[in-house]
Amino acid sequence: MTKHIFRTKSIREFVSETTQGGGMNKVLGTFGLTMLGIGAIVGTGIFVLTGVAAANYSGPALMISFIIAALACGCAALCYAEFAAMVPVAGSAYTYGYVALGEFWAWIIGWDLVLEYAFAVSAVAIGWSGYFTNILMNLGITLPKALTMAPYDGGLVNLPAIAILCLIAFINIRGVQQSAAVNNIIVAVKLAVVALFLALGFSHVDTANWVPFMPFGWSGVFAGASIIFFAYIGFDAVSTAAEEVKNPQRDLPRGIILSLIICTVLYIAVSGVLTGMVPYLEFKTTAAPVAFALQSVGYHWGAAAISVGAICGLTSVLLVMSFGQSRVLFVMSRDGLLPKFFGHIHPRYKTPARSSLLVCAVTAITAGFLPINIVAEMTNIGTLCAFIIVSAAVIVLRRKNPDQPRAFKCPLVPVIPVLAIIFCAVLIYMLPLVTQIRFIVWLALGLAIYFGYGYNHSIISQARRGVIGMAEDSPACGTDAEPVRKEVHTNAH
Ligand code: ALA
Repeated sequence: MTKHIFRTKSIREFVSETTQGGGMNKVLGTFGLTMLGIGAIVGTGIFVLTGVAAANYSGPALMISFIIAALACGCAALCYAEFAAMVPVAGSAYTYGYVALGEFWAWIIGWDLVLEYAFAVSAVAIGWSGYFTNILMNLGITLPKALTMAPYDGGLVNLPAIAILCLIAFINIRGVQQSAAVNNIIVAVKLAVVALFLALGFSHVDTANWVPFMPFGWSGVFAGASIIFFAYIGFDAVSTAAEEVKNPQRDLPRGIILSLIICTVLYIAVSGVLTGMVPYLEFKTTAAPVAFALQSVGYHWGAAAISVGAICGLTSVLLVMSFGQSRVLFVMSRDGLLPKFFGHIHPRYKTPARSSLLVCAVTAITAGFLPINIVAEMTNIGTLCAFIIVSAAVIVLRRKNPDQPRAFKCPLVPVIPVLAIIFCAVLIYMLPLVTQIRFIVWLALGLAIYFGYGYNHSIISQARRGVIGMAEDSPACGTDAEPVRKEVHTNAH
């Protein structure tokens, strides 16, 4: 059994599968990918969680928390970039795990990605609903609390969150070209409001607000980093678009690294200005810290513009994250680890429409009925775990297959991947214990599904039993592979 669950799939197998059934439309370049990345990254983290982290953990040292989280993400991003250029397949980290570590670890990563994307989408939809009801209130329209909040927060169901998730699913099902076009406009608006905030806020920075700089000490700064890590999530979603990219070997690493650099610079600037404008403790009272800071220095119109921009920002995060989610499920289904339902491509739109619909249903239930803090912390821990496994996979595959062509190479291996592992492990350690326990339950559920379904239905397992044939293993495949050389084609769809 051990031999079976650690069996790898070759890069060639993965890439050849992407063309089966006509494949998806290849329309994205570096620009579109970078916009996709920024679209996924700038959202709830910067517009909502900065206030929570500053008031409760980091204080004015929020900038340092952002730098710590950026270091973890930067090291992980370099590992992602190496894999994305080498294995341009929609499954992202899940696929990298399959190539380097085998089916079992691939499943664990895939299961983490389901947590990351589904819970991030839900958390952001809850944030979106908050801003939306706030804007309506400023226009004199008050929606009943019962219909805008989860039971835990004193309501019945969060209907605006459910409504925006349905709209996002509709756009994604219609195809990536439409999604990318909508995304570009939204990203431009959100970058404009961030720039507006910096321009208006900069002259109102009072350095007295930066004292004391670390009111909760270094542990507070690290705890803050484990929360605002959420703000960086999304650069990895760029790699889930791999099968829709014109020149993936060149464009994917660029898209991943560029979007992360741009967002890191913006975040450090925003957190510096934000904590300089308002004493950090005042952020305890607001769920919209960026707008609140402008309001507190008299820019009411600026605060209104930020709210509209935040709505746009959150919408694009939703768009990219639910896009990524359906792609990961699609690839896991193609490998037989999930039922064929998830791998079906819509004949007209050329997108995994059924998968998108299911993602929409699940995220709508989570967003409609769960509180934001539980959902956001679960997102972080799932993502951090996936980053750790991907970073380890870079080291493993360098040893196993040193000659595999790598269009982009992560520098200083193994130093950078080891640093990524250490940074991510520290951030997991800093998350609340209850989140760590919930995550272990999530993993146990994943193992039950794997051994109950994927273990027997995976393409590798079927090939092993002679039910289907597999492409001849390339040198990239693990040495433990047992090639089944039959002229029978897989029938994963
Ligand atoms: N990074 C994304 C956000 O901040 C998930 O909303």
